[in-house]
Amino acid sequence: MFSYRHGFHAGNHADVLKHCVLLGVLNYFKQKETGFVFVDTHAGAGLYDLTGKWANTRSEYADGIGRLWSANQAPELVTHYLAEIKELNPNGELSLYPGSPWLALQTIRTQDRLRLFELLAAEADVLAHNLAQQRRLAPRAIKLEVRDGFAALKSVLPPPTRRALVLIDPAYENKQDYRSVVQTIKDALTRFSTGCYLVWYPRVNRLQVEQMLKQLQHLPGIEWLQAELTVSKAPVDQHGLFGSGLLVINPPYTLYKQLSTALPWLAKELAQDSHAGWKLRSSSHKTAKTTQTNKTTKSSIPPPVARSRR
Ligand SMILES: C[S@@+](CC[C@H](N)C(=O)[O-])C[C@H]1O[C@@H](n2cnc3c(N)ncnc32)[C@H](O)[C@@H]1O
Repeated sequence: MFSYRHGFHAGNHADVLKHCVLLGVLNYFKQKETGFVFVDTHAGAGLYDLTGKWANTRSEYADGIGRLWSANQAPELVTHYLAEIKELNPNGELSLYPGSPWLALQTIRTQDRLRLFELLAAEADVLAHNLAQQRRLAPRAIKLEVRDGFAALKSVLPPPTRRALVLIDPAYENKQDYRSVVQTIKDALTRFSTGCYLVWYPRVNRLQVEQMLKQLQHLPGIEWLQAELTVSKAPVDQHGLFGSGLLVINPPYTLYKQLSTALPWLAKELAQDSHAGWKLRSSSHKTAKTTQTNKTTKSSIPPPVARSRR
């Protein structure tokens, strides 16, 4: 039985990277008039209370969005992201944090569609309630199903307009998730080879992460981009999230340039010790742009405990 609830982690450094990239790609998709579908295979609850008990159990957001909230200047990708968070917290106090379905619903147009999957009924109920409050689009534009997102993805591909952005964001609490991601992407590419697929992955000491990335990067006929942010030294055991990354399959051509300014800035702002750094690679730039920030800053939260899953 798995017990992952995103409310304990919302707004952490991994959410910052993932949501900056997600918004960058969503905005790129909007440059063409033709509608597109955004598919979130692991949707979560959509909106998180950063003043609540869950978020403050380990206060992960304090070393994520909490560090960026008052930034005066930021690179383009981060500026768009911060604007969304500010819009959600209009009184100037950081108290709510948006999840991926909320950010997508906030960004898409009347011709676009949202297809959301969430396995946990309790999370899906909260998500449905949260999205209903937003009232931005007609209900028919959004479809939420309580279902295994890995298995469900093929049911929505190919999309009618032949334009799709898919976020695959498992908790990897279940080690099988690493294999499921690879199989799901293979199936999805067979049905819809030109889709843009964003796969989130944790920086944890696990062989499965590297294996999954290698398998994805060697899939035939794709282009890929890999963006990684490390915030601290790797713990000696298998637990504890010391960074995260995104593998983007068929990325927008603009993303590499945007990330080459956003990643160094984020690595500096989110560094918890001198091991913090970033990495940027793509199928057309195989030599990684990479660095360590060499900035030693003291984390505002205690070091990760062994229970941490992400
Ligand atoms: C990391 S959270 C998602 C966060 C969300 N994408 C965001 O960025 O705001 C992962 C979610 O996947 C759900 N989940 C776990 N296994 C799943 C599956 N096989 N299919 C769909 N959802 C699943 C969990 O209940 C959890 O809410």
